[in-house]
Amino acid sequence: MEVVIVPDAAAGGELIATAIADLLARKPDALVGVATGSTPLPIYQALATKVRADQVDASRARICQLDEYVGLPAGHPESYRSVVLREVVAPLGLDASSFMGPDGSAEDIVSACAAYDRMLADAGGVDLQLLGIGTDGHIGFNEPCSSLASRTRIKTLTEQTRIDNARFFDDDIDQVPHHVITQGIGTILDARHLVLLATGEGKAEAVAAAVEGPLSALVPASALQLHPHATVVVDEAAAGRLK
Ligand code: F6R
Repeated sequence: MEVVIVPDAAAGGELIATAIADLLARKPDALVGVATGSTPLPIYQALATKVRADQVDASRARICQLDEYVGLPAGHPESYRSVVLREVVAPLGLDASSFMGPDGSAEDIVSACAAYDRMLADAGGVDLQLLGIGTDGHIGFNEPCSSLASRTRIKTLTEQTRIDNARFFDDDIDQVPHHVITQGIGTILDARHLVLLATGEGKAEAVAAAVEGPLSALVPASALQLHPHATVVVDEAAAGRLK
């Protein structure tokens, strides 16, 4: 695992957008896995700026989702499908058909999870998977104690994660779904390159546990230690607890 410390979130976004641009130059139809939440927004903004400036041709890029809420009505602005269409697919000028995600409104969620893992494999696997990290060390929505070998499945959010995400739901925790579909840790580890961005002091403890602590299901992000090509980009605040 390589750890790169950058001065701030914008620098992290620029660095990772450049890595994605390099990937697309080598492999124009690369499958890029995207995370949602606040942290990756500077990456998507920097990448869209490069596309507008003709510094990267992203027209054949394929995008896939890491996770999705279960039970939000179709088209809900905070469903991760809506967020990725708004923050990634549209700014990059991509067609919605270049984008795949798990179906959080499926009647048969178990089958929808298995179908998503098959979809990723049939697409040739994820070339670069972007990750954020939860304050409790989660990646995707693999909360502490998730199996390190897990595949895409339905999970129950912890109270802490629902509190953390209430800001996207009018600060009303009652609107935050209880369940999500998430790529499993095993699914995430199948990607060829993992790139985790963490910014802000609030992530410092989780980053230190993931990078320098023991490999443990109690800290799902520590699974990155198992991956042959994992890059952790942290700003100075999020690096504050590293030895
Ligand atoms: C979202 C996701 C989550 C977030 C994490 C951090 O798709 O996979 O693991 O990356 O909850 O969220 P932010 O970036 O909002 O602090």
